[in-house]
Amino acid sequence: MMSQEKIIVLDFGGQYNQLIARRIRECNVYCEVYSYQMSLDKIKEMEPKGIVFTGGPNSAYLEDSPKCSRGIFELGIPILGICYGSQVMAHLLGGSVKTAPISEYGKTEVEVNTSSPLFEGVHSSTVCWMSHTDYIESPPEGFRACAHTPVCPVAAMEDPKRRLYATQFHPEVMHTVEGQQMLSNFVFKICGCAGDWKMGSFVQKTIGELRQKVGSGKVLCALSGGVDSSVAAVLLAKAVGKQLTCVFVDHGLLRKNEGDEVAAVFGPQGPYDLNFIRVNAQERFYSKLAGVEEPERKRKIIGEEFIRVFEEEAKKIGAVDYLVQGTIYPDVIESGLGKSATIKSHHNVGGLPDTVDFKEIIEPLRLLFKDEVRKAGKELGIAEYLVNRQPFPGPGLGIRIIGEVTKEKVKIVQDADAIYREEIASAGLAGKISQYFAALTNMRSVGVMGDFRTYDYAVALRAVTTTDFMTAECADIPFEVLQRVMNRIVNEVKGVNRVFYDLSSKPPGTIEFE
Ligand code: XMP
Repeated sequence: MMSQEKIIVLDFGGQYNQLIARRIRECNVYCEVYSYQMSLDKIKEMEPKGIVFTGGPNSAYLEDSPKCSRGIFELGIPILGICYGSQVMAHLLGGSVKTAPISEYGKTEVEVNTSSPLFEGVHSSTVCWMSHTDYIESPPEGFRACAHTPVCPVAAMEDPKRRLYATQFHPEVMHTVEGQQMLSNFVFKICGCAGDWKMGSFVQKTIGELRQKVGSGKVLCALSGGVDSSVAAVLLAKAVGKQLTCVFVDHGLLRKNEGDEVAAVFGPQGPYDLNFIRVNAQERFYSKLAGVEEPERKRKIIGEEFIRVFEEEAKKIGAVDYLVQGTIYPDVIESGLGKSATIKSHHNVGGLPDTVDFKEIIEPLRLLFKDEVRKAGKELGIAEYLVNRQPFPGPGLGIRIIGEVTKEKVKIVQDADAIYREEIASAGLAGKISQYFAALTNMRSVGVMGDFRTYDYAVALRAVTTTDFMTAECADIPFEVLQRVMNRIVNEVKGVNRVFYDLSSKPPGTIEFE
């Protein structure tokens, strides 16, 4: 897609592969993740300024553990091996890798040799994140150790002549206090990058490329109002204007006023010159969901119905040349690797319809991380509230209402959620919590309102902090804020007489309720 300088990350199955790429992009250097099996020819063709080997769960000295070809060290391209990646480098080049007599896990004080370019500007004793049971007992010929801990003689090693570097610890995780400095040293001092990857140039370049690709063709986009599909739509709108049609399916499971907000931005009154179709399919979804209680069935029904509605609209438009998807880089990386157990069948509004007639899919954001998508959105002048939106699941409130979904329940959860969001914002907490929302439990209980007995629903409030949404902690919201939310909900939302605050972390809970 672009011929600017880049670093490539070769993935050996580590859990931080995406993080490495993000940290490198934070240095304004473009970075992509590939499998460790990528061929030498392909690597040469890409002309990377540097290569990073990730960590991984295997032992480098075992016959069938993942390894790249030894020829990679002959390319003259600087390489940084991290954790397992450091051991692979050591093993392939003739060093000795063994099970460590004492494994290290967690924050560890590491002594580094600050005359190594990797550690320039780093304190000679610095806290790093360790997670290993194997270690490099002795480095290969040509290398010298340039960091150690009391139990790890080669916490880092270098061969400055061949520009090969390796760390046993993980510079990419936040717990390695000076990790960003080390990665930036690798990228700038060792690989000689200029750091000219900027969002502004990405946006301009992408618009130009899209214009060229689409030509006079017709483009169709499923717009959900979420960050990714909004940014993708605006990119296309800027590139091809009226050749783009956005279909926004309002499934009646959106947050309060959200449908109107999306229509205000993308509809004829908004700033963009595109064709916008809002499909009010609320009743259709409610009737499909009537009587259905099981979470996975609800997810499937919503996902399938969404596609049906979208297809119907697409048919009215007729054959289109391109279908736009808001796929982002983590989706690309994750779908390229082995799938883990299905906890929930995730669905992004905009899942692929089979019967829509189009030639090709366009995914303008497929190389961006979420924070970069937001940056691109700001660059495009999209309103802050849209760009900074918290994640909202494709099946919407359908999975925030435990048990059967009805119109009445949707109204309850929308109203309670709106109050919760208002109060969080006015307490100045919005930017400090990763995701927060109200959900409707399926529990009704006895209460008293005035002099009357009530038998009403309990609303659950959820708020979590997380960086990756894979694990999460319950957010520490001041009690008086929670109390204010509770007061307003029981007073203002009909049908609710109790409010719970969900304290669970993930795991064992998940962020959503279903
Ligand atoms: P869980 O509930 O699995 O959620 O802890 C993790 C993150 O994913 C979001 N989520 C979804 N996003 N389609 C989406 O696009 C879905 O079906 C879906 N289900 C959960 C959830 O909001 C949280 O941010």
